Formats: sequence, structure tokens, C-alpha cells
Amino acid sequence: MLAATQTYAPSEDFVRRAHVQGIEARRVLYEKAAEHPEEFWAEVAEREISWFQKWSHVFEWDPPFAKWFVGAKTNAAYNCLDRHLATHRKNKVAILWEGEPGDQRLLSYQELHRLVCRFANVLKGRGLKAGDKAIIYMPMVPELPVAMLACARIGVTHSVVFGGFSAEALKARIQDLGATVVITADGGWRRGKEIRLKDAADEALTECPTVRDVIVLQRTGSAVNMTPGRDHWWHELDQNASEDCPAEPLDSEHPLFVLYTSGTTGKPKGILHTTGGYLTMVTATMKWVFDLRDEDTYWCTADIGWVTGHSYIVYGPLSAGATTVMYEGAPDYPAFDRWWRIVEKYRVNIFYTSPTAIRALIRQGDQWPNAHDLSSLRLLGSVGEPINPAAWEWYYRVIGKERCPIVDTWWQTETGAILISPMPGAVPLKPGSATLPLPGVIPDIVDLTGKPVADGQEGFLVIRRPWPSMLRTIWGDPQRYKEQYWSRVPGVYFTGDAARRDADGYYWILGRVDDVMNVSGHRLSTMEVESALVRHPAVAEAAVVGRPDEITGQAVCAFVTLKKGDWNHRDLAEELRKWVAHEIGSFAKPAEIRFTDALPKTRSGKIMRRLLRELVTSQTVTGDTTTLEDMGVITRLAAQQEED
Ligand code: WTA
Repeated sequence: MLAATQTYAPSEDFVRRAHVQGIEARRVLYEKAAEHPEEFWAEVAEREISWFQKWSHVFEWDPPFAKWFVGAKTNAAYNCLDRHLATHRKNKVAILWEGEPGDQRLLSYQELHRLVCRFANVLKGRGLKAGDKAIIYMPMVPELPVAMLACARIGVTHSVVFGGFSAEALKARIQDLGATVVITADGGWRRGKEIRLKDAADEALTECPTVRDVIVLQRTGSAVNMTPGRDHWWHELDQNASEDCPAEPLDSEHPLFVLYTSGTTGKPKGILHTTGGYLTMVTATMKWVFDLRDEDTYWCTADIGWVTGHSYIVYGPLSAGATTVMYEGAPDYPAFDRWWRIVEKYRVNIFYTSPTAIRALIRQGDQWPNAHDLSSLRLLGSVGEPINPAAWEWYYRVIGKERCPIVDTWWQTETGAILISPMPGAVPLKPGSATLPLPGVIPDIVDLTGKPVADGQEGFLVIRRPWPSMLRTIWGDPQRYKEQYWSRVPGVYFTGDAARRDADGYYWILGRVDDVMNVSGHRLSTMEVESALVRHPAVAEAAVVGRPDEITGQAVCAFVTLKKGDWNHRDLAEELRKWVAHEIGSFAKPAEIRFTDALPKTRSGKIMRRLLRELVTSQTVTGDTTTLEDMGVITRLAAQQEED
């Protein structure tokens, strides 16, 4: 399925104006970085980032703990705002925002700076200072990046929780982080309905004793409960805030943010990113990968609640001085051409989205994009999951009109920035391949002993050398950090992805090898959904696997055994789906729930998800079942499937 039929070289015109021109230029850059990594990264950091104080040395490695630009001082908000104010960018649009109802706001760098300084002073007024922790639970409105940058400005570590997460999920994150402040809103708009964030926050906060203050932005204007003493309106606190708030010089290794993501257990991991190295790479990749030019209008459709939004709506684009588009709502509201309307209206030049979104739009037909003038586009991007060649071809033809290179960017929450991707003016594309590593990135494909596999063979994708924007640890759990990422294959970073490298050195990512599903480009652990299910009083046991889905890549499929009782399976299935939405968020709802009298287990009692995965993928089980305790379980499940 992944075999490429054709390669696509960039046009001469594209190459001539690109930051990196031609495959030879890429090779020189790549080799320089591979041979002299510290010199290379020092040069990049010096060029891309403004520092208050230089580093004493570039890199410190106490495996598996890395420090980059040791002893240097900088500030993320300073790099995203202040340094642009002395340039022609002062009045350039920084954030070009459109709300779902159609309202719009254009914030210049100067204006954004003003809002950030004011809100940083609001936070200071609540007693917050460097080292404190803030949870941000907001819709996609400009105040969300304002809150992030205000935290960054004074050294408060932020953790943005995606607005689609439920109160339960929010609570777990507030508690794990030990946040003292929660920044939220009354609600946000999604498909014409209000997502009521403050209500969810209130539910979460009943068990979060560390939280002293809740700051609430008024977005929808609907009625919310305000707890006296704890809850404050953003606009009231902001009213008298001073606009003078110098960016604090922070250590290069100062914790910038924690972002929770799914691992292989039921408990989400807080991925910690720090300041200097992260900023260096997100800024550099804006040029290497997105080939950003000052006149571009750049749009990444992700939600800021995921890492893509952190790195490629907020920190990367703003640090690079881009105009970054932000849209609040759904792609299909009020109709399937909403995105193309936005591209046409704002003359978007660079467009970055996910394969799931592309496949969903393909299904609606070409008439939607064809009704709009998309000629401003010059570069397209994809992220979050492997893009199948058919979706790639459609994206290339119908959206890019065979004129725009597509950058298929491979990376993870943990990597902070893109690691494997075409440089669009340099690397010929093969649909379905993320192509080549970026400079300074040394990936490999190995077996479990760490031995590289031959070209064309499937193996585990690893990264051999630390890179500046890598995660520093798992918040509060360095042991889990070691085990998850640095112990599976000794001495290298374990990505959790399977991949293959072809004879041209191109990487083909094949998907996760662990119990992590990828649903619509959202990471979700099978264990997380299982633990949610077994918290329901009717459920005895649950096993969850991802099954292939034409649109969402994978869909959640749950096998459930019930406690004794008289259950109506149809009603209960619906109730369990709602239950999972309540425990985690709507996006985690199982697409399918199958009730069974037993789950396939090994003799030692471990659930054999592998067999279930095989069952839902290929409809039969041919894999090794020698450790299976009761073969009858699988036979019965397979028979039940045939009946369905
Ligand atoms: C998958 C999103 C194939 C992969 C930035 C990875 C991809 C996980 C690609 C990380 C791609 C991301 N091709 N697979 N271009 N990009 N993935 O942490 O399995 O939400 O490990 O970060 O998404 O998901 P995360």
C-alpha cells in the first residue's frame, strides 16, 4: 500500500526562492550537522534566537538527561514578541483569528505584546512567579496564546489542556501538575454549539486543593457560576493592569510547558519541554520545513491543546515573525468549505493539516474546494499519522493544484519539533513518506537488540543522538521517562513507531508498535480507555484495540465483559460510549463496543490485545495463540463477528 509510484520534485521557481535550495544544499547542511553537532546547533541558536546571556557550553549529556545551551538566559515571550517590535514587524499581523460565528480579530505584534504584558501583570497580581504552574483550558481564541505567552514571560510553566477533554481528564492533569491557577473561559463555539468549559472546570476543581485562583475569559457570554474569592473575570482583572512587564531572563533549561499525552498505561504522561533548545528548533523548522517568508500567511489547523498547536501555531510562527492564522471552530461548519473559505479570504500561502481531515474532506467531494480560489497556496503540510498515498495525491491535485509541495512532517509531543520531513525546496517527494531527517537529527531503524535492520525491512524507529527540543523528562516521573524512552533499545531514544527505510534513505512511518492508538491524529492509549470503561459499575473487564478506519486512521474498538445482571446491550453500549466521553473526552468514544463472555488471556492472566487487534483488522486470527489460555474465546469472538 505504501509503495510510491512516482516522485515529485519541486519546481525550479520554488527552489530558487527556498531557504534550502536543492538536494545538494541539504546534504551539505546535514553532513555539517552530523559531523559537528555542537557547532551546528550553536550557529542555529545564535541566528534564530535572541539571548540575554550566552551559554557556557552548548550541550550536557547525563544519559538520558540532556541540557542545551547551558547557562544561557532567554525568554520565549521575548523571542515571540519584543524582538519583533524594533523591526518592520511591529505592526505586522501576528495572529489572524477567525471565530466560528464569523467574528474576526487581527492582532499585530505590537498589540499582542500589549495584551501579553497586561495579562502577565494580572498573573503577577495573583502572586504568580517563576516556577509556579498554570493550567490553561480554553477555546481557540487569541487569549489562549496570550495566556501562554504571559506565563512564559514571567516563567510560569503552563500546561494547556485541550478543550475537548472532560472534567475528569482535566482534574487528573491539574492534580499531576500541582497547578495553583486555572485559566479558562465560559465556553467556546463548536458546530454552532457552546462547549461549556467553565462548567467542566468547576466539576474538576472540586478535588484540586492546590488551585487558588481561576481566571475566566468571557467568550460566549453565557451564564456561569463564579465562586467568590476563587474565580475572577479576565476582563475585570485586566482593566487596571499595567502594560509594563519586562520579559524575565530565564535559564535556557527553564520549564516552558508540560503537555500531557497518552502513553502505554492508563495514566497520561506530562511531557516537559524547556526554553532555549525548544525555541531554537521550532524556529529553525519554520524555515527548513515551512520555508517561511516574511510576506507569508501561514495556517496550521491544529488545536493549540495538542503539541502541533504549541509548536506550529504559537511558538514557532511567532518566534519566526510569521502571520499565523487561528480558527476557532469545526472544518465542516456551517458547510464543508469553511476551510477553503478561510484560505481564499485571507490568501493563505502555507497550509498545515492532518491526514484525517484530508480524508474527511475527500469524502465530501471536490466541489467544496473547487468553489474557491486557492491560488494563494504555495506549500502544504501534513502531520499526526501516516498519510496514505491516495489522500496525498488528492491533497496535491485538488488543493495544491499540482503546484505546491507537500511536507509530510514526522514528529511527536516528545520531540517538540519536526524531526523527519522534506525540506520542500530540496527533497523530491514520494507520497506516503516523511522522506529524510532534518539536520542534526540522526534516526535509525533497528531491531530490539539495537541492531540496524536492512533497507526495506520493518523495524523500530529510534533517534540516535539527543536534539535541542527533545523532552527533558516526564513530569514528576524521571524513572518512567528512562524506561519508556531510553531502555527498550539501550542508548537510543525509542519513538514507539515502526518504520522502514528505502534504498534512497527515505523513511516510511508505519504506525505505533505499542498500545497507543492514533484516532484522528489524536494519541490515545488503549489502557486509558480500558480504565475508563472498568470504572463503570456494569463493566467487569475491558480490552481496547485500534481498528483501521478509512477516515480517522484508527477507531476505538472495545471488548467488554459485564458483571452479573440483566443488561440491555444496545442501551448499555450507548451508555458506555457516553461514559468514556465523560471520563476522557468525546474524541475517545469507542466506535464499537462488543460484549463478550470472556477476553482472550495468557495463562498468567494478561489480556492478549494482539489477538483482538488481529481479529478486528483482518477478521480472523492466524497469529501465535500458543500462550492463549482458552482458544474458545477467540473462536467465539470470531463467530460473533461473522454474525454481525
Ligand atoms: C504519529 C503529533 C506518520 C506517530 C505531532 C507518532 C506520524 C505520533 C506523523 C505522535 C507522520 C505523527 N507520519 N506518523 N508524518 N506524524 N505521527 O505526540 O505515530 O500527538 O509517534 O504528535 O503520531 O503523536 P503526537
